[in-house]
Amino acid sequence: MSSQSIPDQIRNSLSKLATRDNQQGIRSLFEQDDLRVDKFTFDVEGIYVDFSKSHLSDELLDVYLQFARHIDFTDKRHRLFSGEMVNSTEQRPALHTLLRDADNQQIEMSNTTLLQQAALAKAQLNQRFDEIQSRLSKRSTPITDIIHVGIGGSSLGTQVLFEALTGVDEHRKIHFIGNVDAHKLVAVLANCHPESTLVIGVSKTFTTAETLQNLQTIADWWVQQGGIDPIGNFIGVTANHANAIDFGINQENIMVFPEWVGGRYSVWSSVSLSAILLLGMECFDEFLSGAAAMDKHFYQTQESQNICFIAAALDHYYANFMGAGSRAIFAYDDRLRSLVSYLQQLEMESNGKDRQFDGSPADQQTASVIWGGVGTDVQHSVFQLMHQGTSPVPSEFILVCSPNHHLQDHQDELLANGVAQTAALLSGQSLATTRKLYQDENLSELVLQSKVFSGNRASSTVLLEKLDAYSLGALLAFYEHRTFCGGVLANINSFDQMGVELGKRLAKQVKPLLLDEGDEQPDQSLDPSSISLIEKLKQLRQI
Ligand code: F6P
Repeated sequence: MSSQSIPDQIRNSLSKLATRDNQQGIRSLFEQDDLRVDKFTFDVEGIYVDFSKSHLSDELLDVYLQFARHIDFTDKRHRLFSGEMVNSTEQRPALHTLLRDADNQQIEMSNTTLLQQAALAKAQLNQRFDEIQSRLSKRSTPITDIIHVGIGGSSLGTQVLFEALTGVDEHRKIHFIGNVDAHKLVAVLANCHPESTLVIGVSKTFTTAETLQNLQTIADWWVQQGGIDPIGNFIGVTANHANAIDFGINQENIMVFPEWVGGRYSVWSSVSLSAILLLGMECFDEFLSGAAAMDKHFYQTQESQNICFIAAALDHYYANFMGAGSRAIFAYDDRLRSLVSYLQQLEMESNGKDRQFDGSPADQQTASVIWGGVGTDVQHSVFQLMHQGTSPVPSEFILVCSPNHHLQDHQDELLANGVAQTAALLSGQSLATTRKLYQDENLSELVLQSKVFSGNRASSTVLLEKLDAYSLGALLAFYEHRTFCGGVLANINSFDQMGVELGKRLAKQVKPLLLDEGDEQPDQSLDPSSISLIEKLKQLRQI
């Protein structure tokens, strides 16, 4: 069984454009069109995106518009927003957009059951938030630490939200515990006390091994510290009420969000409770409003002006026709230090798939590897490869005008560096210029050659006036929809994550072998390398 996801005519046109683009480079696109910057820069809900330093051109956009018509992109987008079963393997809609539009103001949606579920989830979040706030305010010992236990989508978005919006003078801390590796947990518990600590366990399924083990360890610590009824005191956020009850969370401490909210799309729900408790509900509502505004743009704007579609078209072009295996994201703002991890899950878990919708093998590159970091740190680690490496990596720079501190000269330096890097990637430096620059220094030919930069390396820039709840919401929704478009172009289901199951299942078989426990034979025979690693670990553990 196979199906062709890119029609021949479109594939041919894109291949021809890639040949042209590889020959002529991005700089010549500027020479050919004085209006290039205006044409390929968009200002949407405070998010200013400049695609002009990429290979975007009228011709390229035109082919992707044909592609969009061919796959009936408008209908697919409508199916997402209207609650159709876009997650075909799990037979669910993916309605994170509804969480930020519970009043159904922006997008017509007729399924009243889903609307009610969204409204109910938000009402419960508001109510529980008030209750918890009031409970906390009556305590003799104030809460100084929140331990947020959750992994992947049950943590990364909340961490971005908290780090991006918390004030520099915020003294209350959220400790995000995801990994089963206990190094962080041990360090956190060493500095916490049950009296002043609030524990929030977040798990869509409430079956995730790491989360349950971490919660249990915190419960044991709680008792050792003289606390009583630990799990009864914990707050549980989940889509599976029964599993949270089975684990021992008290009924009145459970907050439920709907099944149709995917883990990596759940930052808009009660999953963000820990951050909401510190930032306030007004702030969270602004965050939802910013995302809803981006939803409106995505839903209502034709593809030729739609920043989510254009960004995804470029991602697709780079991955499939320009040979880029990865895409780098550099946030020039420390408040966005966890954004890359969040986007890695968003894109790689959504679109890292080798099967098409109908089950046939993917016949194109699906998600790229996403990587990156924070500027200017990255300039002193990975930028050598960005400028002179042999496999050009398309990149994205995120700049925020106003900082959340008073040291304006630092901000000026930061922004100057961000813009300069995008300029350097584009312009490069020819041998002739290099000779001229160093004419007084008597440099060898070898050194001169090594100072040449090819340039013509694609980047796009996302600029925010300020990083507030609204702009953060719009930014994250931009990336969500871009990921959705990527999945539509690749003809895959962006909303399941079957690829994480096998490793989890094998871990259950490896552990008894490592501990020499149980007689059961693994249901899948382990390869010689893994068996030998287990043996080696057993030897080393005995030392
Ligand atoms: O292992 C992958 C995954 O299922 C993610 O999709 C999800 O965000 C994470 O694990 C955590 O799952 P849960 O919220 O059910 O604990």
